[in-house]
Amino acid sequence: MSRWQFVKQFCREPRTIGAIAPSSRKLADRMIQPINFNRARVIVEYGSGTGAFTRQIVDRINQQKTIFFGFELNEQMNRIARENVPEVDIFQDSAAELRKYLKKYDVKHADAIISGLPWAVFPEHIQDEILYETIAGLQKGGVFTTFAYLHGLLLPSGIRFRRKLQKHFSEVKTSPVVWSNVPPALVYWCRK
Ligand SMILES: C[S@@+](CC[C@H](N)C(=O)[O-])C[C@H]1O[C@@H](n2cnc3c(N)ncnc32)[C@H](O)[C@@H]1O
Repeated sequence: MSRWQFVKQFCREPRTIGAIAPSSRKLADRMIQPINFNRARVIVEYGSGTGAFTRQIVDRINQQKTIFFGFELNEQMNRIARENVPEVDIFQDSAAELRKYLKKYDVKHADAIISGLPWAVFPEHIQDEILYETIAGLQKGGVFTTFAYLHGLLLPSGIRFRRKLQKHFSEVKTSPVVWSNVPPALVYWCRK
């Protein structure tokens, strides 16, 4: 079901969906690896899709103590994500609105941001807009994780995005390649 929905939405909006299949469990594990679930009080997800990362996060947090919400811009994806992970608020809005939503929860910063956004298909002004908001809304020392498909790493937009991460974060580490993901991908683990 999720897989078919992905292909359908990708055909309709390739430049915002950016993927033909939901991420694998193994990629989800890599994405959440640096998050300290005992200490993080505010966690935000960008581009929830059908909820592949959302489910793994919600299963690890203490819902009484941790604020966790997500953004999914695409209407169909948003509906599916909310069906798959009904415990989580997933807003049909852009990740570029991060601070507006943090304010709604009466907090200034997120301790961790997990991004499923397809950065390599974004034009530069959208990369800049969302990265700016991310830096502004992330706690000092906070963690930002995002993945990149191997085939996108050598695209000019993929190279540009990696340079931007290195410019804006004090630490950027790269995970081993998750070959079993479709398509294979790696994760950037960044710290503000
Ligand atoms: C590559 S898919 C990843 C979905 C899911 N996280 C996964 O890994 O299976 C990217 C998702 O980001 C969403 N998206 C694109 N631009 C967005 C934006 N500015 N704000 C929020 N979501 C966005 C798309 O609609 C799409 O569902």
